[in-house]
Amino acid sequence: MNREKILDFCREKLELIIEEVCRYFVARRELIVKIVATMISSGHILFEDHPGLGKTLLAKILAKVIGCDFRRVQFTPDLLPADIIGTKVWVPGEGTFRLVKGPIFTNVLLADEINRAPPKTQAALLEAMEERQVTIEGETYRLDEPFIVLATQNPIEYEGTYPLPEALLDRFTIKLSTGYPQSEDEEVEILRRRLSWKKDDPTDYVKPAVTKEEFVLIQRAVEEVVYVDECIMKFIANIVRTVRSDPRVLAGPSPRGAIALLKVSRGVALIHGRDYVIPDDVLFVAVDVLSHRIVLKPEYVDEVRPEQVVIENLRKVPVPKVAHGVS
Ligand SMILES: Nc1ncnc2c1ncn2[C@@H]1O[C@H](COP(=O)(O)OP(=O)(O)OP(=O)(O)O)[C@@H](O)[C@H]1O
Ligand SMILES: [Mg+2]
Repeated sequence: MNREKILDFCREKLELIIEEVCRYFVARRELIVKIVATMISSGHILFEDHPGLGKTLLAKILAKVIGCDFRRVQFTPDLLPADIIGTKVWVPGEGTFRLVKGPIFTNVLLADEINRAPPKTQAALLEAMEERQVTIEGETYRLDEPFIVLATQNPIEYEGTYPLPEALLDRFTIKLSTGYPQSEDEEVEILRRRLSWKKDDPTDYVKPAVTKEEFVLIQRAVEEVVYVDECIMKFIANIVRTVRSDPRVLAGPSPRGAIALLKVSRGVALIHGRDYVIPDDVLFVAVDVLSHRIVLKPEYVDEVRPEQVVIENLRKVPVPKVAHGVS
């Protein structure tokens, strides 16, 4: 396929994915675009919001719509690392150990209510999320492609939760919230759909918009076709450096955060049918990609939200004018 054909193919398929999600989930298109941009750039998503705002439903719809294998793990206080990655069991008849794979051996892992499990269990995801492999009793196993973690959690002020450690938070490419319905129309639309489904969970009706192979092809296109100009790289570097040097920030976004911003921006470009990133793609996702990677100084924690710190710093960074086409 030539460049034009790949772009057309991706745009068409990505539109189908977004449409199918919106058929079942009432949301701003903007939210779904951010989600899909992250998934096609091989990123992991953390959904954080209050109970009942559709996090679990949305994650289930997403998993199904991209035609991939999907497993769900409900994180609870007694969940063990082996319950996620798997373990080796002794088979007396064969005189050997056999691997019993955990639910992590899948394409889309829904880690539901991730902050209800203790840190040791949460940590079982670290290696998988970063290196797309797991180590079980000293032996390393590669995970299938794609491998995407969709995690949900309630905000930390809820009881019985273990806040995610910074190292794990940093591995989430983006943190998003589904949010409350924005208008009376949206609120009614949720009720209307509930009546037409005749049950609470419509995921059985959701149809894959692409096959797994097509999805992988789109992921490759993000990596191989979408051009990033030098000035865009400098723009991203400038953004993370400005946030980092904010006097209210104790620990700023890591280079992993900058790479995450680069990756998701490429995904956004492809959804818009472009094979190059423009500054608006970066600005569109910067707050969602960077906010959860910031630790504020204790005296500012009650004063300002990390999102606000990113927004204020974005205003300070000059936006490059060029960055069109392939050099
Ligand atoms: N935006 C939405 N569009 C369609 N249905 C929705 C939406 N938001 C919530 N719902 C409906 O509300 C119900 C609760 O959603 P869900 O279980 O996904 O919430 P949650 O955010 O995972 O809650 P919790 O944090 O308690 O697990 C579901 O029946 C779902 O169908
Ligand atoms: Mg839920």
